Formats: sequence, C-alpha cells, structure tokens
Amino acid sequence: MKVLICPDRDAAIERAKGIIIDHVNARPKAVLGLATGGTMVPLYERIVSAYQAGAVSFAGVTTFNLDEYIGIPPEHPCSYHTYMRDILFRHIDIDQSRTHLPHGMPDDVDAEGERYEAEITAAGGISLQLLGIGKNGHIGFNEPSSSLASRTRVKTLTETTRNANRQYFPEGEETPRFALTMGIGTILDARECLLIATGADKAQAVADMIEGPVSAACPASALQFHRHATIITDEEAASQLRLTDYYQHVHPDGI
Ligand code: PGA
Repeated sequence: MKVLICPDRDAAIERAKGIIIDHVNARPKAVLGLATGGTMVPLYERIVSAYQAGAVSFAGVTTFNLDEYIGIPPEHPCSYHTYMRDILFRHIDIDQSRTHLPHGMPDDVDAEGERYEAEITAAGGISLQLLGIGKNGHIGFNEPSSSLASRTRVKTLTETTRNANRQYFPEGEETPRFALTMGIGTILDARECLLIATGADKAQAVADMIEGPVSAACPASALQFHRHATIITDEEAASQLRLTDYYQHVHPDGI
C-alpha cells in the first residue's frame, strides 16, 4: 500500500485530484470507478475547476459508481444519481451515456447486480477506483462481515451508516435500509484503487485498514491484497497509525 499522509484535508484533496487528473490525461479512455459521500464533494468541485481551466477532458471517459440506495428512484433528490449529476457530471464534458450507477428500483435486484457486473466487464474493467471509507471500515456499502470475494449485490445498511447518512435526507424521511453495491471482489478487480480518508472520526478505520489483520470485520483491509492501492489521508485520519514515521519517510507530507 502506498500511504500518503498530507498535512490537512485541503492538501489531501488536492493530492487526490492530481492523481485522478494525471490518470485521465494519460488514458483519455479511462474507466473510473466513482464514490459518493461528504469526502468526495470538495474533490469533485476541484475536478470541475480543473476541467473549466482546461487541465483535463472527460470526453472519452466511462464511469461506474460504487453504489445506490434501494427503494429511491434516480430522480430522487437524495439518490446518488442526483448527487453525481449535480456535483460532477453536468459540469464536465463527459458523455452522460457512459456514466453508470446501479438502479435503485430494479424489477429484480439480483439481475441488476449481474447486469452491472457485466457492464463493467464489457467496458474493459475499471482502471482507477476511487473510494471513501466508513467509520466502520466499509468501502462502497460493503458493511463489516461482507465477503471479501463479494460482487455487486444488495447489502443491508448498518445503523452506523444510516445515522451517518441521515443528514442528507429531509427531516422525517426514512433513510434507506438497503443498497446495491459493488462487492469487495469487484473493487479488488480495479487496476488501481485510490482511497481518501479525512478527519479524526476515520482514524480507527484507517488504522484497521492499513495495519490491522485482513478481516471482513474491516472490509477496507481487503485493500492490503491489492497490488496498486494508494491511501491518502490528512493527519487527523492518520492519527492512530503506528508506522507514521515510516510512511512520512517514504512520502514526506504525502508527496
Ligand atoms: P463520507 O462517507 O465521505 O461521507 O464520510 C464515506 C463512506 O461512507 O464511504
């Protein structure tokens, strides 16, 4: 694992932006795996600014998002379809027909998972998968105890995850209980993984992911098996790591 500890959140987001833009500029037909959540908002805002400044084009890029809530339609204001459209897709030159998310209201959820996997394969596989991490160590919506070999399927969300996501739903509206998510096996198939974690509330999950045993108790620890995984953190999210001196020696301030 490449562990890049940046001085603060801004520096971490800037570092991640640079990696994504370099990836797309080197591979104009990149297949990006995208993530949602609060951590990604400032990252996508910076990517939009870089696009507007002419530093990158997404005209040939294909995207696959990690997950979508079950039971809400794509046009729902809190769906990940809406999040992606409002925060990223409508601001850049991507061909909307090449953007993919699982459908949150499929006729047959099992078939939808299989269809999504087949679409990723048909696109040639994911070249760079962007990831956040939950306080409980989840990646995508692969909650603790998810099979480390899992593929896109339905997961029941933990109460921790539902509570974390409640802030994005209008008061009185029930937060979804289920999601369709790429599996851990799907994520590990990406040729590169880039996980971003900022803030002290991610410190325990980050330590378990990087230095703990590989275990379904911390789904992100499966990234220890990946040959090309980069973890970008700020100092707060890195505060529970034991080998910080070594990571800083290899990549001072995440450079
Ligand atoms: P967050 O979510 O960026 O909103 O903290 C990360 C995640 O749950 O994967």
